[in-house]
Amino acid sequence: MKKVLVVFDTTYGNTEKLGREIAAGIEETGTAECKVIGIKEVKSEDISGFDGVLFGGPIHAFRATRGIKGAVKDAAKKGLDGKLVSTFDTYQAPGHKGRAAKQIEEMIADKAPGAKILSPGCTALVDGRTGPLNAVEPAKAREFGKKFAEELAG
Ligand SMILES: Cc1cc2nc3c(=O)[nH]c(=O)nc-3n(C[C@H](O)[C@H](O)[C@H](O)COP(=O)(O)O)c2cc1C
Repeated sequence: MKKVLVVFDTTYGNTEKLGREIAAGIEETGTAECKVIGIKEVKSEDISGFDGVLFGGPIHAFRATRGIKGAVKDAAKKGLDGKLVSTFDTYQAPGHKGRAAKQIEEMIADKAPGAKILSPGCTALVDGRTGPLNAVEPAKAREFGKKFAEELAG
C-alpha cells in the first residue's frame, strides 16, 4: 500500500474539502492511503515515509498563498526527491483557473528538482468567495485522485 500526504491551505474550508475529495479518489483505488494535513502541520510531519505528496491552496490576489508556498519550502527542505508530487487550487474568477496550482508547481520544480511532478494539478471553481465548491468539482477531484493513484502505482 502506497502512502500519500495531502497538504492544504484554506481560509473558508473549500480547499480543504477539495483536498479531501482528491484523497477519497486516491483511496477508492485501493492502492494507497492518505493523510490530509493543514500547512501548519508540515513542520512537525515526518514526510520521509510518503510516496506521494499533494500541495493545494486558494488563489489570493492573482497568486498562490504565502502559506502554501511556505509549506512547499518546508517540505522541500525535508526532501521530496523521488516522490510523486502534484498540486490543487480553488479559484473564483474564471480567468484565474489553475493559476495558483501552476505557481505551486513551478515552486516545487525550483525547490525540489528531484520530485516527479504530475502536471497539470487539480483546479476547482468556488461559487463566491466563501464557496461552496461548484457542484461539478467534487467528482472531478475524485477522478484526479484516481489518476494520481494510478501514476503512483506505475
Ligand atoms: C484576499 C482574497 C483574495 C482573493 N483573490 C482572488 C483572485 O485573485 N482570483 C480568484 O479567482 N479568486 C480570488 N479569491 C477568491 C478565492 O479563490 C476563494 O476565496 C477561495 O478559493 C476559497 O477557498 P478556501 O475556502 O479554501 O479559502 C480571493 C479571496 C480572498 C479572501
